[in-house]
Order: sequence, then C-alpha cells, then structure tokens
Amino acid sequence: MSCGTVYLETMGCQMNVLDSELVLGRLRAQGYEPVSDMAAADVVLINTCSVRDHAEQKALSRLGTLKKPKQRNGQMIVGVIGCMAERDPDGIFARMPHVDLVCGPGELNKVPALIEEVRENRTRAIALSQSSSRKSTPLQRALEYDSVEALDLSRDPAPGHGVLQPYIRVQRGCDKFCTFCVVPFTRGAERSRPPSQIIDEAKMLADRGAREVTLLGQTVNSYVNQDNGRPVRFGELLAEVAEVPAIQRVRFVTSFPGDFTDDIFEAMRDLPKVCEYLHLPAQSGSDAVLERMRRQYTVSEYVDLIDRGRDYVPALTVASDFIVGFCGETEEDHEASVRLIERCLFKNIFVFKYSQRPGTVAARRGADTVSYEVKRRRNGELLARQERISAAANRKLIGTTVEVLVEGYSKAAAKAQEAEQSRGQEVSWRRSDQLVGRTRTDRIVVFPGKPGHIGRLAWVRITAATALTLHGTLVEESLEQDRVTVPAGISLPVLGSV
Ligand code: SAH
Ligand code: F3S
Repeated sequence: MSCGTVYLETMGCQMNVLDSELVLGRLRAQGYEPVSDMAAADVVLINTCSVRDHAEQKALSRLGTLKKPKQRNGQMIVGVIGCMAERDPDGIFARMPHVDLVCGPGELNKVPALIEEVRENRTRAIALSQSSSRKSTPLQRALEYDSVEALDLSRDPAPGHGVLQPYIRVQRGCDKFCTFCVVPFTRGAERSRPPSQIIDEAKMLADRGAREVTLLGQTVNSYVNQDNGRPVRFGELLAEVAEVPAIQRVRFVTSFPGDFTDDIFEAMRDLPKVCEYLHLPAQSGSDAVLERMRRQYTVSEYVDLIDRGRDYVPALTVASDFIVGFCGETEEDHEASVRLIERCLFKNIFVFKYSQRPGTVAARRGADTVSYEVKRRRNGELLARQERISAAANRKLIGTTVEVLVEGYSKAAAKAQEAEQSRGQEVSWRRSDQLVGRTRTDRIVVFPGKPGHIGRLAWVRITAATALTLHGTLVEESLEQDRVTVPAGISLPVLGSV
C-alpha cells in the first residue's frame, strides 16, 4: 500500500544521519516512497541541528522555501524533527506557521503516527522528550526500558546507499553539560544500549554488506551497560563487535577526553579490526577556557592522554574540535590553542566559531564577548596551522603502501557518470575514473580503479599528497582475495599507521 512520497533532508552530525536513516526506514516499511524533489513530496521532513545558531537559521531558510509549495498543495505535510524541534517548538511554529509537526530526537519512533495524526485531524502534532530523567545513574538508566529503542530495533536498511559503512548507535544523550553546548538539553540524559542489541544490529548489518561499522555516542568512551549482570564497558563492547566475522573495521566517535580509560587503547592495540583513529575534541588549549567550558580536564591531561595513546598504538591518528571566541577568550588563550595544535599533531581539526545557545550555562552567565571578526580571524589561524601539519604528515606517506576500504567513485567521476545517466547514455567506466576510500586512520585516498573494487579492502601505493587527500595507484594483486593480505615485496610503514 502506498502512503505517498516522503522527502527527508538531514542537517548536522552523524547521529542525525543515523536518525534519518532509521526514520526513513520506518516510513518505507509503512508504504512511503522516498523522493528527491522536496517541493513535490507529500511529506517533507527536515532533521535539524541546534549546536550553533547558523545551523538553525539554515533550517528556517529551508522551511521558508516550503511556504509556496504548501500553498499550492494544501495536503502537503511539513515536519521538523531533531534537535531544533526539541529546543524551540514554539519558535518554529511562530516563524513557520506552515509547519505541521515537530518531533524531538528522543521521540522519532513516533514520526509515522504523528504524520497520521496530522492527516486525519488536520491539527498540529507534537512529540518532545523534555522530561527525560537524570535522577538515576547512567548504568541504572541503561537498564530501564526506553521506548525510543524501538526505532533502532526496527532498523531495516535500504539496499544500496550506506550499506558498506553504517553507523550503529551505542549511546544516546549526554550528561556532561559543557557550558557552551545544547546537546544535553536536546538529546537528554546519557543512556547506553544493551550490548546484545548492538551485536545483533552489527550482525544484521554485516549480512546486508557492512564491512566497517562506526559506533556512535556523544561521549562514546563512557559507554556502560550490563550483560547477564556483568558490567560491560566500552573496551569490551569493541571486542564483542570485532568478533562479528564479516566486519573488517570498527571505528567509534566521539570520545570525551575527561573519562577516557586505557582499556580502550588496549583494545585498539590488541584487536586488529579496531582502527587506529580517535575523534577527541579538545575545544581549547587554555586551562582557563577549559574550566569555563566545564570540560573536566586540563590541557596537560589532554596531551598526556594522546601521548599515552601513541605509546600503546604508535600509529594512532587523532582528529579534534576547537571552539574559537568562547566568552572571554583572550589572544593568549587563542595562542595556547595554536600551541596545542602544534604539540598534538592532529590528523585534522574542526573549528567552530562560538555561538551562544539559549538555556546553556554560558548563555546564562554572560554575553558573547568576542566579536565575529576576531572569531573569524582565529578560526582561520587555527585552520592554517593545522593545514601545514596535515600536509607535512601526508607528504611523509608518499612511497608507502596503505590499506584502503574502497567506498566508491570520487566526486569528479561520480559527476561525470551522473551526467551520462541524465543524457540517457549507458554509464561507462573509464580507465581514468578515480575511486575513493579511507585508510584505517581515516585518511582519504583517491586512485584509479574499477567498479569491482568498490566495497573491498585494497592496497594503494601513495604517489602524491595534499593536506586533505592522498593520491596513489592500486597494487593490483592485492585484490585477488576478498580479505586482502599484504602482497609480497611491499614495504609497509608501521602496521596500520596510514
Ligand atoms: N560530543 C559531541 C559534541 C557535539 S557538538 C559529538 O558527538 O561530537 C560537536 C562540536 O560542535 C563540539 O565538539 C564543539 O566543538 C562544537 N560546538 C558545540 N557547541 C557549540 C557552540 N555553542 N558554539 C560553537 N561550537 C559548538
Ligand atoms: Fe556537548 Fe560536551 Fe556533551 S560538547 S555533547 S555537552 S560532551
């Protein structure tokens, strides 16, 4: 039975990407057909992000473009889901009166029912979690039945897109309450999923073609649950996921530096499938700023953690997040962030201009004091410093051979193919077509290859490098087996280091 067409657009983080996949899977199972033309769809859902004001403005502007299509088609249902829906439902309705439904990230299992409610009663439908309890401990909460689990449990991925490298949620919410951050308010209390459910999901995804899984949590390393009364911490969960035979790589994001324990480094060292990569946001290189952010670690503790990680796992690469222009950030604080970047030699960094979020401690404490111009300059300075570090690190890899999980065509090749398709031509493969994949340490590698290489591990000899990308050529014999081994005569850098 067809319920009509649905268009779902995703903004924000990996958690939102996963939420969208799950919501779309639910709707598909009910008979909705996903489409790519927003203005012509029967149901339009925007999965929103609230981390910065800019993301909310973007969502509002997308919603604005739906006013006319909705006037033309009174039956169209417009929904706002995700963090912005949870944070400011009244603001959304006030500014976008054509919105029919809002649904917070903790209630997404209700989306099909909400759409029905709007359809039948022509009223607004709302589902928010605002009351999510923080009274119990994370472990107690993990053991409580959580109705939104139903969403993850009903996962039924569409064939094709995203099957090779799916995300798996292992934890919801966050208890850290960094003073700048809205996530604990929008996603609620920290809650870890039962290990058995995570493993079942990993097995199901492996059966559908997954070769790499990324375990998701806001502070994924603080994962804790129980298995038959025995506590299971994150290092053990990694070991259990790594036992799923068809899965060749296991990654996880995001780690919180405050409670990172060495058993996770041990898992990375001892389990060949666990990739040597961490996303470990620092936010600032100044102790005074970290304190005001309530990050629960000092700069030297952060540096020690990375040094310890590299002792356990010499190949470890680390990506980090920085916020520039947090309230009261001085030039000295900013210089300290530059020094931290130089000290840690990150693989890459994500830099965000501080954006004051209503309801957070930082917003209650005082004004957003650093001007936009200063934030912009500091943003550029951190990125420029990091770019030189990334370029130098990548140049060192020229001449080495790296293990790559081949993800698909590079953007340019995919574009050329789309053009052929839209002209009604048969899609052809050219010798020069570039494939793209990632190393274990999350570096992007581009190389000429064939469609049959996609979805497999391959060895690529690096011939050129920029700050963002490695270029290379395929070591052909490496593809003879499904699980490739290192071909004879190839000199490798530290195993797994690239
Ligand atoms: N632990 C989470 C963090 C979510 S927010 C995770 O899964 O990554 C992602 C990043 O956005 C943060 O690490 C921080 O660098 C940035 N950020 C969060 N709140 C912000 C704000 N108010 N202004 C600017 N950047 C912010
Ligand atoms: Fe936000 Fe800090 Fe949690 S950045 S998601 S409150 S760890």
